[in-house]
Amino acid sequence: MSYLDTTKNVYKKAAETPDVGLCCTTSPIGQLPGLEIPVIMREMNYGCGSTVSARDLVNNPRVLYVGVGGGMELLQFAYFNRQKGGVIGLDVVDEMLAAAKNNFKEAEKLNPWFRADFIDLRQGTALDLPINDNSIDVAAQNCLFNIFTKEDLTVALKEMYRVLKPHGRLVMSDPVSDDFIPPHIQNDERLRALCMSGMLSLEDYLAMIAAAGFGTLEVRARRPYRVLAPGHYDVDELIYIESVEVAAIKDPMPADGPCIFTGKTAIYYGSAPYFDDGAGHVLLPNQPLAVCDKTAAALKDLGRNDIFISAATWHYDGGGCC
Ligand SMILES: C[S@@+](CC[C@H](N)C(=O)[O-])C[C@H]1O[C@@H](n2cnc3c(N)ncnc32)[C@H](O)[C@@H]1O
Repeated sequence: MSYLDTTKNVYKKAAETPDVGLCCTTSPIGQLPGLEIPVIMREMNYGCGSTVSARDLVNNPRVLYVGVGGGMELLQFAYFNRQKGGVIGLDVVDEMLAAAKNNFKEAEKLNPWFRADFIDLRQGTALDLPINDNSIDVAAQNCLFNIFTKEDLTVALKEMYRVLKPHGRLVMSDPVSDDFIPPHIQNDERLRALCMSGMLSLEDYLAMIAAAGFGTLEVRARRPYRVLAPGHYDVDELIYIESVEVAAIKDPMPADGPCIFTGKTAIYYGSAPYFDDGAGHVLLPNQPLAVCDKTAAALKDLGRNDIFISAATWHYDGGGCC
């Protein structure tokens, strides 16, 4: 049996019997005015962050969500979209699709604005999306891609890139870890399926997303997630796992590599009315400008003593250079 089959079995079971806290988040669930999330969807929240952000969802975007779980984030996406078939939900596990379908019936009872046909549930795999090229505005996955091996992750990211329209967005949440993960833990198929052992370092995760062609990356959140502690898991040293929320935008790839926003900010404090780096960045006195890591490094390299560059906050929330 392959790790993909083990994953299917884990989520078949999780579809048939909701498993609160399985693989997953304890972070607060995004509340929106007039949105009631059925209890069953909360119990089947198998994600590790959020991929739903109002700022990605202007102008009725066509949304693709891969790995539906109990359907909570699909409902949240539909809140912004509200069109028949406006949100496609794709999953490889039939039982998960059936559970999500039932959960949408519950959601209809609680939310007068919601109709189950806003969501177009489809069977299929992230590794071969049954979706046309350049047809999606916002694609999302929450806590699925970390399960994949590097080879399969490369395929899954390429598939997401293929189906997105130019400048479309891939929004994702996954665990990451900068600690060494011993091979026997990485290869533990069940732990992998439970989002506990397949994760990459954040640096490798971002590099793989960029390698798929995305020209702009945003690290929107980075939070403590889990530990694998000796005595509880077959490890000699404690492994610290974080979860991240990352948006990857299908912008053209700049010649000098992707623009990666990690929450760094430049502030000019010289005596001139402004500072212009000649590369498109104008800093006004004592006004923060969000900068990507490339711009932050280039400004630092100027060696000036009138530009402050903040450390990464890992909570980039829009605006700035590039
Ligand atoms: C960790 S759960 C996350 C569910 C949901 N995204 C959430 O946040 O609650 C992983 C989901 O991906 C689905 N899945 C597993 N392998 C898949 C694949 N190869 N292609 C598409 N979906 C898959 C599982 O059935 C499950 O619904």
